[in-house]
Amino acid sequence: MSVHPEIDKRKTFAIISHPDAGKTTLTEKFLLFGGAINTAGAVKRNKANQNTTSDFMEIEKQRGISVATSVMGFEYKGKRINILDTPGHKDFAEDTYRTLSAVDSVILVVDSVKGVEEQTEKLMEVCRMRSTPVIIFINKMDREGKDTFDLLDELETKLAISVCPQSWPIGQGHTFKGVYNIYGNQLNLFEPDKAKVTEPVIHVKDLHDPTLSEYLQDKALDKLKSDLELTEGIYGPLDKEMYQEGLLAPVFFGSAINNFGIRELLETFIVIAPSPASREADQRMVYADEKAFTGFVFKIHANLDPKHRDRIAFLRICSGKFERNKFYFNTRLNKKLKFSNPMDFMANDKTLVEEAWPGDVVGLYDSGNFKIGDTLTEGEELQFKGIPSFSPEIFKEVENRDPLKTKQLEKGIQQLTEEGVAQLFIQQPGNRKIVGAVGALQFEVINFRLEHEYGAKCAFRPLSFSRSSWITAKDKKQLQEIIQRRSAHIALDKDGNAVFLADNDWAINLAKRDFPEIEFHLTSEFKK
Ligand code: G4P
Repeated sequence: MSVHPEIDKRKTFAIISHPDAGKTTLTEKFLLFGGAINTAGAVKRNKANQNTTSDFMEIEKQRGISVATSVMGFEYKGKRINILDTPGHKDFAEDTYRTLSAVDSVILVVDSVKGVEEQTEKLMEVCRMRSTPVIIFINKMDREGKDTFDLLDELETKLAISVCPQSWPIGQGHTFKGVYNIYGNQLNLFEPDKAKVTEPVIHVKDLHDPTLSEYLQDKALDKLKSDLELTEGIYGPLDKEMYQEGLLAPVFFGSAINNFGIRELLETFIVIAPSPASREADQRMVYADEKAFTGFVFKIHANLDPKHRDRIAFLRICSGKFERNKFYFNTRLNKKLKFSNPMDFMANDKTLVEEAWPGDVVGLYDSGNFKIGDTLTEGEELQFKGIPSFSPEIFKEVENRDPLKTKQLEKGIQQLTEEGVAQLFIQQPGNRKIVGAVGALQFEVINFRLEHEYGAKCAFRPLSFSRSSWITAKDKKQLQEIIQRRSAHIALDKDGNAVFLADNDWAINLAKRDFPEIEFHLTSEFKK
């Protein structure tokens, strides 16, 4: 099958990390190298204050900025690079997981001092679910970090992925001299400097090239040689297919803040990272080079102006060509919609999009039509897979604090949860509303926005649940039985699927034992 040049040139990915490992810095440096911005600091402002859990005014401010940086696109050496931004704060992890449904690969940043952290593992799990290809960037090599071999071992064991170093660090912290690029046979010398964007590169024939000793002392060179001998035996050459299948992660070393290792990473990335290929829908596999347009909504952003209820729905194009002012079919609503102002967002600029290709993301102004996961086509009945809900960690019951504003509260909760701020579960009797979120911050965001955008007031009553598990059974009667016998633990999600709410894993295991015919699923996406 011949791939369209517009598709072939696109590389759509996300940079992800545990907070503070260097995601924002690396994103910014990519944009600097790509010429999309010309000063450092443009992306940094996007970062919400990660240490506060109650500063929602700050969050409101950040909301505006994060629309602007939702997709950062630039051209580099004939490729169109689309970086999809993900929130730094761990309370917004679910937003990150959804954004990962819209990328073709990721770069995972790991702090050389801290190694694999909690959020690194969770993010990797989400990548594994979809077999997303992962490149690992070990950042902060200018600091005294972990031993390189130990770090690679840690990546393999904690992230359950094979690794293959593409470069090798020479020293670290105050003795960090640079990296040896294994396959390009070149020495990249480290000079700590936050301002410059080039690094001295020394091309050599191989490790025995006498030029090397002009730059490295005997001790450092001997260590490099013995490390690389070991490395070759353990990791071997890069298997590109295994990388593209999400089974093996190429590893790079650098220091994002000092612009070190960025160019090497970016240049390998554009060669090995996959272009948009195919995507699974409930009905069939959809290929990027099919003629007919298809796409799905993976993120919805409320407008900042509370007087205007518009939202921006972010659409990832999966196949064909998207065109402005053409009617497209929303398969869930069974309705044709036309978009006269599709937008491309970059830093503080937004531009009107006339056409877009697979891998691109466009922002569509929406007055409340879209839900996350909606599929758009030229008429075909399709529903893209891969945008599941994950189990929240905090559950609270909504209590109306202003009976005169009941309708506003209903509408607000509905719209905010459709936007993906948190998940809504309905429990009987009495249609009790339970909101589930990954972090405490979401409840504050909901409270704040309900009051300011909908004029409604609510309180959240804490519940003891900390897990949700989607339940199915081959026999409907068996499902009814657990729903009746464990009604205090059962609720329905936004699509009417039954969910078992539990205090901990132990309670889920107990339920599994008591109801062996029921299947418990970790996410909302299960084979029906
Ligand atoms: P995040 O988006 O993953 O949360 O991380 P971010 O890029 O904001 O980086 C977190 C901190 O790590 C920042 O310091 C940043 O300057 C620093 N950092 C990034 N890359 C490197 C590196 O290669 N070496 C070293 N030593 N530090 C690095 P901060 O003090 O939180 O912010 P700032 O005051 O520097 O802006």
